[in-house]
Order: sequence, then C-alpha cells, then structure tokens
Amino acid sequence: MSKQIAKTYVLNGLTANDVAKGIISGGHQTEAFFIQDLDDAYRRIEYFKRKMPRVQIFYAIKSNDNVPLLKLVAALGLGFDCATPGEIYKVLKLQVDPRSIIFASPLKPPQWMTYAKKSGLLYSTFDSSFELKKIKQYWPDARLLIRIKVDSNSVYRLGDKFGCDYETEAIDLLDEAASLGIKVIGVAFHVGSVCFSFDSYVNGLRMAKALFDFEAKSGRHMSVVDIGGGFLSEKNTDIDEVSSLINIALEEHFPDKTVQIIAEPGRYISDSSMVLYTSINAVRWVEKNGEKINILYISDGKYGSLQYTEKWQTVSKLERNTDENHEDLYETIIWGNSLDSADRVLPDIKVYLPQCTPQDWLVFPIRGAYSYVFGSMFASVQLPQIRPVISMELWKKIRGSDVFDPEDIIENPDITEPMPSNLPKVINIQIHLKSNVLINA
Ligand SMILES: Cc1ncc(COP(=O)(O)O)c(C=O)c1O
Repeated sequence: MSKQIAKTYVLNGLTANDVAKGIISGGHQTEAFFIQDLDDAYRRIEYFKRKMPRVQIFYAIKSNDNVPLLKLVAALGLGFDCATPGEIYKVLKLQVDPRSIIFASPLKPPQWMTYAKKSGLLYSTFDSSFELKKIKQYWPDARLLIRIKVDSNSVYRLGDKFGCDYETEAIDLLDEAASLGIKVIGVAFHVGSVCFSFDSYVNGLRMAKALFDFEAKSGRHMSVVDIGGGFLSEKNTDIDEVSSLINIALEEHFPDKTVQIIAEPGRYISDSSMVLYTSINAVRWVEKNGEKINILYISDGKYGSLQYTEKWQTVSKLERNTDENHEDLYETIIWGNSLDSADRVLPDIKVYLPQCTPQDWLVFPIRGAYSYVFGSMFASVQLPQIRPVISMELWKKIRGSDVFDPEDIIENPDITEPMPSNLPKVINIQIHLKSNVLINA
C-alpha cells in the first residue's frame, strides 16, 4: 500500500517537540507518528562538512529515505549512495544528476546493472572476479571502485559479507579488471555500521594508498577514495574524534588534493532527525515477587519501526506537566502492535517508566536511522506517518532549489491537526459472496 507523504511544516519560532505535543494535545491523534526535524539533519551535514572539509558526502539513503530528507540532501548539492534500483529511482525522481549517485553495492544482479546503465549512472563498486565478469557483460562502461574489507569493532560487520581481502585478492582483481578493459577509478571500504574502532578508517586509508601505489606502478591511475559510512550518531564528540584521525591519515596518505575523497554516511545524518511517538493501546499491572510491573501495549512494534534498538536508544513517557518528572518508576514491559508474541519492544533492555494510562504517549528519540525503513507488512500493520518540520530560517535558504514543490510545504501550520490516517479505506460492500461460515450469534 503506497504511503501518503505528509507535508512539511515550516516553523516560525516553534520546535519539533512543540509540534509533537501540539498533535497529541489536539486530541485526535491515535496512531504512532514520527516527527522528522530537517534542521537536525542539516546541522549534522554541516558539522560533518566542517569537521572533514575534504570529504564529500554521498548520503546513504538506505538509512532513511523519506522524500523531504532526500530533497534537503539534493537541495544542498550532496551526492547519494544507492544500493538498489528502487533507491536509484527515488533519487532520480528528484531530477538529481545520475553522476552524483554511487551504486555502492558490490554484488549486483545483471538486471540491476542494466537498470543503472539505462538510468545514466556511471559509478559502482565490486569485490570479486565474478562481479567483474558480469560488469564486463552488462555495464562495461561503468567506472568502479574496488571494495576492500577492513576489520573493525562494529555492531553490523559489513566486512563479513562484502569486501575483498586486501592482502590476497585486491591486486589480482585490479589486474583482472585491467585485462578486461574495465576502468577502476578508486578504492572503497565500509568499516561497518555503528563502528566503535575509529582507527579502522585509518587502516582503510592506508590500504587504499597501497592499492593506489600498485596501480600507479602498473601504469594505471586511480583518483577516488570512498571511506563509506559507519559514523556514530549518538553524540558529536564521536565525529570530532574520528574526523581528526581521518584528516591526519588523509594528509599522510593522500596529500594530493586532486584525489577525491567521498563518504557514505547514513546513520550519522538521519538518526537524530527523527523522534517516534507512540500511543498506548492498553495497560496492565501485574505483581511479580511483590514488585509491580507495568505492561504496555503500544501502537508500533518490531514489525513496524522498532525492530532494532542500539544501546544508546531509550524510551520515556511524554511529559505534559512539569510535576510528572518526579513520578515513581516501575519495571516495564512494552509489547508491539502485532499479535506475535515475539513482538516485544526493547526486549534486551531493562525499561523503567512511570505508571502509564492509555491517555499517555511514549517517546523514542534518535529513531531516524534504520527504523521505519525496516517496517514489514506483517499482518498488514501500518507504519507510523512522518511529519517533517523545517525552520523558517533553513526553509529560506533552500526553497529556491527546483527540488521543492510549494505543494510539499505548509507555512503557518495548525500544529494541533492529527496526521493523515494510516488506516486502510473502508470498503463499501455491495456484493456478498456466498459463504457457509457466517457467524450467526
Ligand atoms: C555501502 C554502504 N554505504 C553506506 C552505508 C551506511 O552506513 P551507516 O548508516 O552506518 O553510515 C551502508 C550501510 O549498510 C552501506 O552498506
């Protein structure tokens, strides 16, 4: 079922949080919803650029592909990392130049390659001989980056799945590409998503430099290094630390400024831009060993936008009065909105919340990355709607860009209005099929 994109509210003096409270206090909102704060994403982008002035951003849309965010990224003139034809389609629909997209999937079925070629894309990655042969056949004019594996301490270890071995495979692959007449323009790596070992980027850059040297010795030339994503999203001090290591390594290994350095951050840009608000469908109190336990059934869940929980993610009860922050806390179990008994939210975390009623709302901050994009259609449960908001100041900066349509935007919004409903249309039944199993009570 295709989802309606809620219009972006332009805020004059109000905050994203004011809008959430407005929607809830309006009294008509019943389903879970997100607020997406485009200023937050903008601040992240600007901070990233300031910290690593040499690195050009190709936003990884897999982390959050909500159209207003993609439009912001396009309006700011950044590139995109797409991993599937579906993502390429979404970005090209915004009239983005196909040369500012990298198809950063090292394993592509032939039909994906022909799709990319027909769409005017030029850049992609590879990590195997098998892929090179397919590229020769289906996309011979592609310009490629060799994807190498870089060890890291990451929550999502992409190196287990992708990337050739730098020691044993990379050089043979570069020679093979040359003998097939395929142009290799650079080296790519991804240290893994949620990467805690910041020196992994430094190792990746060292290996990239060795491969640049190998190519130069072989009479070939590379000019692009792609340092991937994996940047942490919780606090900016992490990017401070990792960026200074990257900048030093770039100076050491790639002092020649004609070498283009790109990155594919996803989580870092999108994560803190979205907060999820869920209503409470039902509550129960049980006693276990003399302790009261708060059991809540909420309007989103594991099959919606709450599949993953990173260790910095939390939940709280939306405070509507200041005295609420002195309430007693109880151990709490939160169940999602499907009928699956495995649909428990934050299953590995001890959650403590005040006693809640079905009139309360829960707040899940830092839920922009890899949240609703993992939503499944299990049990036809609907995903929360997303309300994007932007400050008047930022809107004035980007509204001249062709990517925005005045139809996308509401200035002076009534923030107490509920989100567009996610419920399916009610079917007006005119023909009753004959059935033997009518309930006749
Ligand atoms: C090739 C590639 N680039 C970029 C990303 C984005 O990573 P992150 O969101 O951790 O920055 C991913 C994530 O899987 C990826 O596979």
